[in-house]
Amino acid sequence: MIELLRARRSIRAYTDEPIEPQKLELLKETVLRSPSSRNIDPWEFIFVTDRRLLEKLAVCKGHGADFLAQAALGIVVCGDSHESDTWIEDCAIASILVQMAAQSLGLGSCWVQVRNRRFDEQTASEEYIQKLLHIPEHVKVESIIAVGYPAEQREALPRAELKHTKVHANTYG
Ligand SMILES: Cc1cc2nc3c(=O)[nH]c(=O)nc-3n(C[C@H](O)[C@H](O)[C@H](O)COP(=O)(O)O)c2cc1C
Repeated sequence: MIELLRARRSIRAYTDEPIEPQKLELLKETVLRSPSSRNIDPWEFIFVTDRRLLEKLAVCKGHGADFLAQAALGIVVCGDSHESDTWIEDCAIASILVQMAAQSLGLGSCWVQVRNRRFDEQTASEEYIQKLLHIPEHVKVESIIAVGYPAEQREALPRAELKHTKVHANTYG
């Protein structure tokens, strides 16, 4: 795990190579094994491989989502706000776990933030995606995880460059 964490970077450029069905299954298993508060599992995951839909998801906000148009897969991570008050935390955990699983399978990935982002002045990114993918209003959209075979290499951060002062011993000051 520590080696995966050391090597992981956000990857925003992908080759045309599709993701093998066995790897797709492992990514599905990963999200379903994600822990959730009180074991409620309020999440819902939409695995989008349809190129036309990925292109539409790529414009769900002004910037920071364009690379979805080239990704082999976009995992839309949603949480049922009626089922649990910790849907945000539960969805965030599933999002990062599936990024780590992708890394372990030789895939690159990047988180696309959806919650609190806007498509335009009138429409939230969430509403745009709910309409596009037929998601009911109470099923909130946390993120989209773009996944594909990497077409860029990014260097791991050297240990010395980590923000070591962010970790405190016993008290804050
Ligand atoms: C909650 C969250 C939201 C993010 N949203 C976006 C996004 O919308 N678009 C994007 O390109 N990257 C997004 N990222 C990726 C971050 O920009 C990236 O993790 C950060 O710059 C550190 O780089 P690294 O992942 O290569 O270590 C997001 C990451 C997190 C954790």
